Amino acid sequence: MYYSEEIIEEVRSQNDLVDVVSEYVKLKKKGSSYFGLCPFHNEDTPSFSVSPDKQMYYCFGCQAGGNVFTFIMQIENFSFIEAVKYLAERAHINLPESEYSGETRKKLEEKKILLNIHKEAAKYFYANLHSSRGRTAVEYLEKRKLQKRTQKLFGIGYSNIDFNDLYKYLLYKGYNEEHILKSGLVISKKNGKSHIDRFRNRIMFPIFDVHNQIIAFGGRVLDDSLPKYMNSPDTPLFDKSKNLYGLNYARVSGKEQILIVEGYMDVISLHQAGFKNVVASLGTAFTSRQALLLKRYTDEVVLVYDSDEAGTKAAIRAIPILSSVGLKVKVMQVPDGKDPDEFIKQNGGENFQKLLNEAMGAIMFQVHILRKKYDISDAEQKIKFTMEVAEILSKLDNAIERDVYIDELSRDIGISKESIFGVIRKIIAEKERSNRKQINYKKVSETFKDNIRIKQENNEENGLYKAQKNILSLLYDNPHIYEKIRPYLSFEDFDDATLMKAAKLIYERYDKGLNIEPAVLINNFESLEEQKKISSIFNSKEKNKYNDRDYDIEKAINDQIKLIKRASIDKKSRTTTDIYKIQTLIEEKKQLEKLYINIING
Ligand code: UTP
Ligand code: MN
Repeated sequence: MYYSEEIIEEVRSQNDLVDVVSEYVKLKKKGSSYFGLCPFHNEDTPSFSVSPDKQMYYCFGCQAGGNVFTFIMQIENFSFIEAVKYLAERAHINLPESEYSGETRKKLEEKKILLNIHKEAAKYFYANLHSSRGRTAVEYLEKRKLQKRTQKLFGIGYSNIDFNDLYKYLLYKGYNEEHILKSGLVISKKNGKSHIDRFRNRIMFPIFDVHNQIIAFGGRVLDDSLPKYMNSPDTPLFDKSKNLYGLNYARVSGKEQILIVEGYMDVISLHQAGFKNVVASLGTAFTSRQALLLKRYTDEVVLVYDSDEAGTKAAIRAIPILSSVGLKVKVMQVPDGKDPDEFIKQNGGENFQKLLNEAMGAIMFQVHILRKKYDISDAEQKIKFTMEVAEILSKLDNAIERDVYIDELSRDIGISKESIFGVIRKIIAEKERSNRKQINYKKVSETFKDNIRIKQENNEENGLYKAQKNILSLLYDNPHIYEKIRPYLSFEDFDDATLMKAAKLIYERYDKGLNIEPAVLINNFESLEEQKKISSIFNSKEKNKYNDRDYDIEKAINDQIKLIKRASIDKKSRTTTDIYKIQTLIEEKKQLEKLYINIING
């Protein structure tokens, strides 16, 4: 590990998990825990919990869990070291300078090289555009009315028509084949025998991250050929579901809202017209990661989409994802089937601003779209429409806002406010009921008692793994049974490497008469995978408390210890060639079958 245990623990304890999570997720207190919508999977009802006492989080829906480091690693896509650095800075702790561990250093160095390759490529594309080879490209940009200043600001360039110009250039600049291929800018063909540039004869748009570093490219053809746009593939630098084009400028625009458009050219064109608070989702469906990213820089977004069917659909899909992270969402429709770029070039910024001022709240927008679907002079359709609107309004937290809509709706369709309100209340009550059921069910399924059935499971390996996890859970929840178990089960009997390491740490603490603090224990594990595994040990809740009269659990503990021990002996038998040792192991196994650890009256 790169930093000392003490400093890592200092960083962890100075960053309260509830505070840190609150920067990304709206949390509500329920009992001793906080609940919110899980940022790691899409959901309508909160199953993401944070325990202030344990300083751990856990999602009952997707099983994500861990301490504050795990959370930052998961949500920011950071390595352990990056998470430590980030949280140290957040808590104003100075980290000592020292050496990175081998693997971390390698990954960080690779990222740096890939960033340099992108920077180099952008310079190359830019130079191309302004050389004689870029003549048609320059003309194209002029035709699209992009001023030189704007082109420069967005680093727009041009990729040559030739086969592998960029590849040769990057080799000449001293980058090796492996890194060049990893950048995604070059593709290998014929079993690696030949290399071609991914982008050829295209207008090049560098994609910047929020720190103004180039992490990918998009490239547009100069005519009507297809595909119109090509984008970098996912690389160690770039994950398109987590980035937004233009956010580097939008986040410092000083505006209250951020506008969301569909394409590169929309962002650039609006920026040129003075609207610098614009981002594009680059033609893919909006993800909750992107929504969370936006939430860091603003509280209100405006979806600026074409008024055609595709645009409307995209807006309707994006609304719940954006609102679920607590963003206020508005929708602005660009008329006449135009996109924002075309509109602003024809009608100017003032007219665009006018439309922006008239942008509808997301709820109102959804209601309007629905309204077009139904003929409310027909009684049956009118009822259907009312039910659907009630469903939308039931998602509103704000009672005043809800009243306003009910009022409007009532006037519009001639159904009394009371009866609309009645329907909404019913929907809300039903939702709450099914929420509770869902969460309870999930809690129970996670508990030890449920897992007693593992023995019956055919999947041996799965059973073995669960047994190890359960024994550790149980030891954590019931320190007093450690003494009973310790003589029969050594930490070396654990077959899973991560769980063995956890067992060793837990045994060491108990041997010294110390308590286990889950969030501290997790500090010993660097990878996300391991942290998730460890955190699931500590998330079996109070159902794991061992009661003095719990014969069922006592029996299960015995079964599970035997399962682990048997596997451990078998493994030793397989790996030893010493005949005497094998005999001892056979004897040990015989004894094992007779073993019964008496925890209740022992
Ligand atoms: P559009 O087809 O609306 O393109 O796609 P556009 O932004 O208006 O482009 P211009 O004005 O014709 O130059 C919207 C976005 O979808 C992505 C691009 O990010 C584009 O900006 N897209 C589109 C692709 O990734 N590939 C494609 O083939 C087309
Ligand atoms: Mn366009």
